[in-house]
Amino acid sequence: MTALEQPKVALIGAGAMGGALVKGWAQAVRKGGGLTLSVIEPNFDAALERDLEAAGAVLNPPEPGIADVIVLAIKPQSLRDAAEAVRDFIGPETLVLSIMAGVSIASLTRVLGAERVVRAMPNTPGRIGRGVTAYVASAACNESDRALAEQLLAPLGAVEPLPAERLMDVVTAVSGSGPAYVFLLAEVLAAAAESEGLDRETAARLAAQTVAGAGALMQETGDTPSTLRKQVTSPGGTTQAALDVLQASDGLAPILRRAVVAAVQRARQLGKEIESES
Ligand SMILES: NC(=O)c1ccc[n+]([C@@H]2O[C@H](COP(=O)([O-])OP(=O)(O)OC[C@H]3O[C@@H](n4cnc5c(N)ncnc54)[C@H](OP(=O)(O)O)[C@@H]3O)[C@@H](O)[C@H]2O)c1
Repeated sequence: MTALEQPKVALIGAGAMGGALVKGWAQAVRKGGGLTLSVIEPNFDAALERDLEAAGAVLNPPEPGIADVIVLAIKPQSLRDAAEAVRDFIGPETLVLSIMAGVSIASLTRVLGAERVVRAMPNTPGRIGRGVTAYVASAACNESDRALAEQLLAPLGAVEPLPAERLMDVVTAVSGSGPAYVFLLAEVLAAAAESEGLDRETAARLAAQTVAGAGALMQETGDTPSTLRKQVTSPGGTTQAALDVLQASDGLAPILRRAVVAAVQRARQLGKEIESES
């Protein structure tokens, strides 16, 4: 992450995701620049507090005033309760950056009165800086709002801009929920190994390390999954025998397609429910 140019940030909620953001911001402050950060969080981690102060950030100034950016990292159901505290930091120019699942830009504008809004969707590997976050910005945002939002989201991993908010449901179904599909792959691979005679613990270790190693290989080589798959598939070999099953017309592709469609539909439904509650 590059150095921060001294933004005044108010972070609302510093749990798993908000905490990961703070950790990355502290690192960015160490590289130069600066940060004034107000944190509204009932259980703010004392280690993060020390980290920020040691890095040279100004933490919880007594009279914070209007923030340049308000980052919302609370659960959607906490938005109503948090709205009052948020309003203390909002001015006409304040950018609202929300990572809350299912809360639309229109809802954020309605509840908080902000026009410059960035709605982002991270995923769980973001907790260790290896996630991917897609975001969409409201029409009132300019290039520097987008750049600042990208910079503030960088501690969670890769950042991808989206052309339209409706695609957020697809992102939710693919990268938001996606880590669970990969964990399930490790689980069912281990179960298959156990059925073929390996003891449970060895099967679990082999499957988990295979998933982790394959992911790391993909990331470190930069090769496409298809290239890497072809590299381990000799014609007539064992991998080919398995792929013939997985790539059959009733194999992995139609199952994942159905899974993603189900998740997109559920994301739409949840979005409507959250919308009607906020
Ligand atoms: N984790 C993910 O992989 C992921 C992925 C995509 C999107 N998101 C979104 O990211 C957001 C944060 O998720 P998370 O996993 O970081 O949740 P989390 O660990 O529960 O963190 C939320 C934090 O906000 C605090 N909080 C609750 N009400 C508050 C209030 N009124 N004012 C200030 N702080 C308040 C909570 O404190 P208490 O625990 O005391 O209530 C908690 O520490 C959610 O909206 C979620 O939809 C998360």
